[in-house]
Amino acid sequence: MEKLIIQGGTPLEGRIRVSSAKNAVLPIIAATLLASTPSTLLEIPDLEDVHTICDVIASLGVKVTKDGDNITFDASTISAVEAPYDLVRRMRASFLVMGPLLARKGEARIALPGGCAIGSRPIDLHLKAFEALGATITMGEDFVEAKAPEGLKGNLIYLDFPSVGATENVIMAATFAEGKTIIENAAEEPEIVDLATFLNSMGANIRGAGTDVIRIEGVKELKGAVHTVIPDRIEAGTYLIAAAMAGGNVYVENALSEHLKPVVAKLKEAGVTVEEDIDGIRVISDGNLKATDIKTLPYPGFPTDMQAQFMAMTTIAKGKSTVMETVFENRFMHVGELQKMGASIEVDDRKAFVTGVDQLVGAEVEATDLRCGAALVCAGLAAKGVTKVGQLTHIDRGYDNLVTKLKGIGANIVRVDE
Ligand code: UD1
Repeated sequence: MEKLIIQGGTPLEGRIRVSSAKNAVLPIIAATLLASTPSTLLEIPDLEDVHTICDVIASLGVKVTKDGDNITFDASTISAVEAPYDLVRRMRASFLVMGPLLARKGEARIALPGGCAIGSRPIDLHLKAFEALGATITMGEDFVEAKAPEGLKGNLIYLDFPSVGATENVIMAATFAEGKTIIENAAEEPEIVDLATFLNSMGANIRGAGTDVIRIEGVKELKGAVHTVIPDRIEAGTYLIAAAMAGGNVYVENALSEHLKPVVAKLKEAGVTVEEDIDGIRVISDGNLKATDIKTLPYPGFPTDMQAQFMAMTTIAKGKSTVMETVFENRFMHVGELQKMGASIEVDDRKAFVTGVDQLVGAEVEATDLRCGAALVCAGLAAKGVTKVGQLTHIDRGYDNLVTKLKGIGANIVRVDE
């Protein structure tokens, strides 16, 4: 089994470059299904989740051609309308093909693993919105199907929660809907703005992305476009935390401070020096950190995808910090792993109370999910001794070239097959 072996305690120095945002690339690849001519996406990161979404749309008949890190998607012919079980199981975001399939083909079927976490509740907002656009939804034992043989019709949709995926799926479904669709209480994440930018460059008419009201005027056809995806704010934030914890002076190239305001504000509150310019963000830290409270919220609040990494940082910050998770239930899987490294954390429902310790100690830990893995790498870089991180499949889903990039700023980290 592959592991990361990290020898902690080396300050980090130099420049590290952020790749394109995983969470923007995934819906944008799904959106290529809408175009009758090929689209090319530039500088696509080599991530497991990207391979999975490419496999999903290839299974629908889209021709996927790689040229270095640029990928061309030719959806001139779509030969299937069902996302198969083994691919949906690999990644929840596979569900993002439902909106574009419904728009382009008038039907979509997504295989669902019965009774598992991807069951009806986490997609209820998507399905309710598709129904509002005139689709008929059928929930089977192991699939969900949406049909709109006469095409979708624009409508007013109020999302009960500003779900990122539901907002993206509805935007894509509504591109061809007759008349006007208005999404209220829409998610405002930068990845949604990037999706709308891509769709508009293909000929869609979408206004208001980045605010909580998005208006879509249906069009008849979309043509392929060439697009460069925004930088990954979560990858950037992870490197900012790594440098803050291990100490040193690191410039995170391609990090957009506009997208990282809550993370930067909280790093400053923790006593870290952060300098922002148009090309990136510099972190200067001596490793002496102050306790800081965070509460995760939809954008522009503190991102839930940075919660685990930030909690890792509070474990060595002087004093007591509170970490509150409001976006997801059960997103504290990293707590048990951080405790193995000597962290002092108590969990009560959606709150974690962290008492800073002088130093974390290297241990054998498991990346139970993607951001847990990122948090453990940050912790390992700051800990005394050797940390071994297992279950790298989770980290590979979202971090492009992690080991090479971290080595470039002086980290003592290797990947081995034990
Ligand atoms: C996206 C991101 C993920 C991030 C999350 C929140 C991608 C590929 N993934 O996930 O990294 O952590 O946003 O910022 O972009 N919910 C429902 N019903 C629904 C939809 C969502 O109850 O129909 C709930 C979810 O269970 C969760 C909350 O809403 O508690 C937020 O989910 P959502 O914003 O939809 O996250 P994703 O789009 O899945």
